[in-house]
Amino acid sequence: MTPPSGEVRTLFSEAEISTRVDQIARDVADRIGADLLVVAILKGSFVFTADLIRALHRAGVRPQIDFMQLASYGMGTESSGQIEVIRDLTDPVEGRDVLLVDDILDSGRTLSFARDRLLRTGARRVQLCVLLDKQARRVQQVDADFVGFECPDEFIVGYGLDHANFYRELPFIGVLEDPPRV
Ligand code: IMP
Ligand code: MG
Repeated sequence: MTPPSGEVRTLFSEAEISTRVDQIARDVADRIGADLLVVAILKGSFVFTADLIRALHRAGVRPQIDFMQLASYGMGTESSGQIEVIRDLTDPVEGRDVLLVDDILDSGRTLSFARDRLLRTGARRVQLCVLLDKQARRVQQVDADFVGFECPDEFIVGYGLDHANFYRELPFIGVLEDPPRV
């Protein structure tokens, strides 16, 4: 597969991300108790989560980690209404305090689906942690408890975020110029 040709303009540098991730981890440590299950939504949040859990360690938190892979139907840069579970959790969530981690809060459909599902299956409390918040695009009313950066209404790649499964390896967060909107 040939990578897309769009230019990527840096929005948040590696150093800015690293500083912010440490701040979020300290915030989580202050506001969440000792029993913490981190649930990362794949694929987009794997880089953020990997840095966040090590920052949590530095902040004195000893979380357990699980993953849930979700997809919304459609291949474009806009998520569609329907969410599908591609890979489910393996740990029980009954009675757990969950920190649900995603790369970006956009329409809100993914996180509202995931949060409802965790609560339905018995989580005691679910708090939302997102690297980026694209408030302008919200369709479902969802507020994150922990936000890395407010984000402009542009298509973002890097640090785990993709376009057509490319760009996830970029160590910084950038705007993909002229992505095809579908
Ligand atoms: P939501 O369900 O519309 O809130 O979208 C959440 C998911 O859509 C994220 O987990 C991302 O995978 C994807 N997404 C939304 N906006 C962007 C973007 O600007 N760049 C890359 N992925 C995005
Ligand atoms: Mg994605």
